[in-house]
Amino acid sequence: MPAPVRTPRRRTYLLCPPDHFAVEYSINPWMDPSAPVDTGLAGKQWSVLRDALVELGHEVHLLEPVPGLPDMVFAANGAFSVGGVVYGASFKYPQRAAEAAAHEAFYRTTPGWRYVPATEINEGEGDFAYLPGTGLALAGYGFRTHTTAHAQAQEALGCPVVSLRLTDPRFYHLDTALAPLDDHNVAYYPQAFSPGSRRVLAALFPDAVRADTADAYAFGLNLVSDGRHVLLPAEAAGMVDKLERAGYLPVPVDLGELKKAGGAVKCCVAELRR
Ligand code: ARG
Repeated sequence: MPAPVRTPRRRTYLLCPPDHFAVEYSINPWMDPSAPVDTGLAGKQWSVLRDALVELGHEVHLLEPVPGLPDMVFAANGAFSVGGVVYGASFKYPQRAAEAAAHEAFYRTTPGWRYVPATEINEGEGDFAYLPGTGLALAGYGFRTHTTAHAQAQEALGCPVVSLRLTDPRFYHLDTALAPLDDHNVAYYPQAFSPGSRRVLAALFPDAVRADTADAYAFGLNLVSDGRHVLLPAEAAGMVDKLERAGYLPVPVDLGELKKAGGAVKCCVAELRR
């Protein structure tokens, strides 16, 4: 059977340039503060990602990078928005805590948003994903975001939140193990989830693109899709093939420097949903 025709939808994104990017501490298994990082190269790689999003016709907003916040390039972690409501982040580790206020200031000074501050630990779109076609939010827990934040997000956003347990520390955020491909479908790496959560994912997403271990270790799930074009790490060659076979159009980008902090494409991109 031929793969379905995939149609893109224009998106609005929030990114933050990696001007102060560094690996100065270790809060996930990918981070080694003794390994050298080329901030200039990180900036060039990030610019290619930003330009690709703009060339695809998407609207890109930028946050002003703050000195002393070396992980701020990972803009996905700053909040989670659905239908004009923004559920704020509350970071697990003190090293990143101040990033939440920078995101909050963006939403509070941009017209059209209602900002709901979080009292529970959660790292925004790092652990939350939204599928408009189903009305469901998916939410990860086990390493960063607490399940109490899943309940708080459900109250704030008014959409059902499906809790999924992450079990492999390399896949510490949901967005390292699962990504929406369009309004209904996802790609994911089953082994990153508990047995019960795997069953939930299999039931919800029978047509999912399933990643293998090589794809997942190459950050192949840390992707951004507009419904047709899928930006993902170039290293994830197996994922490129799988996505093509499913009718999507992969756009490989190299974010090798940012991977040293445990992040790739999706980590850099927050979607603004109104
Ligand atoms: N070094 C950052 C951290 O450990 C990487 C965050 C990656 N972001 C993401 N959305 N997965 O918090």
